Amino acid sequence: MTVLKLLILGGSGEAAHLTRALAGDARFDVTLSLAGRTADPTLLPGTLRRGGFGGSEGLARTLTGESYDLVIDATHPFAVQMKANAVEAAGAADVPFLAIRRPEWMPCEGDHWIMVESLEGAASAIGDEPRRVFLTTGRMELAPFRQAPQHLYIVRSVEAPSPNELPPRVELITARGPFKLKDERALLQEHKVELLLTKNSGGTGAAAKLDAARALSLPVIMVERPVLPEAPFVETVAEALAWLERAHGSTSSA
Ligand SMILES: NC(=O)c1ccc[n+]([C@@H]2O[C@H](COP(=O)([O-])OP(=O)(O)OC[C@H]3O[C@@H](n4cnc5c(N)ncnc54)[C@H](OP(=O)(O)O)[C@@H]3O)[C@@H](O)[C@H]2O)c1
Repeated sequence: MTVLKLLILGGSGEAAHLTRALAGDARFDVTLSLAGRTADPTLLPGTLRRGGFGGSEGLARTLTGESYDLVIDATHPFAVQMKANAVEAAGAADVPFLAIRRPEWMPCEGDHWIMVESLEGAASAIGDEPRRVFLTTGRMELAPFRQAPQHLYIVRSVEAPSPNELPPRVELITARGPFKLKDERALLQEHKVELLLTKNSGGTGAAAKLDAARALSLPVIMVERPVLPEAPFVETVAEALAWLERAHGSTSSA
């Protein structure tokens, strides 16, 4: 039986899901790559590597040097640099490539979304009046909110942000999704949130906060998706598994 060496670029729910789905599948020798931002990542089966590759050239060298047969980019929708590096490196190393790009969230009836292109734009869209803002953009991206110190930020992240990166007025919540509607609603009420500020990550694990904001008629400042490089992509893990199936089938019958 042919065994294909697969590199999954991770840091998302899809990467974890795909890694679990391939556990015990002897047709694939899977390595999951994480940037190493989270000190205590969810434990997953298979080989784990952590830390950057050294740009697209470094990744291309890894793909060639370690004889990878396939690469799947399952990084978070906002990991723009890694996504660009992955497309470029797979092309340079001539390794078949697929991206998993989950659909973005779309507003529903009853939503009041203010669309912005950047976190800086999001910080100024909160306005001059002090507000209580539920901030779920991630602990690495708090700097723009230091420029709008009049607001109180309820910051939720997987790990606590470093204190010197925080805006002056914060309430910290450390938690890992997925989150449920009733809990999100309770959180918004308990913290007297007036406005939700988030990136359009898409997916189901973090969507309940949007349902809760709609239920409580709260406005949402939504950071729009970045522009991503052109590449072959699917939207779901199931489709990625079908792609792997075909890739293995074509190698075995070659
Ligand atoms: N951005 C978000 O909102 C967000 C949210 C949740 C999770 N994440 C996850 O957190 C990680 C970092 O996100 P980011 O936005 O800082 O990424 P980024 O800006 O696109 O990437 C910056 C650098 O981090 C390294 N890197 C990123 N993902 C990697 C991976 N899976 N394996 C090895 N190296 C990786 C690469 O370093 P080299 O150039 O040295 O290779 C890359 O050039 C990603 O894995 C992403 O999936 C991001």
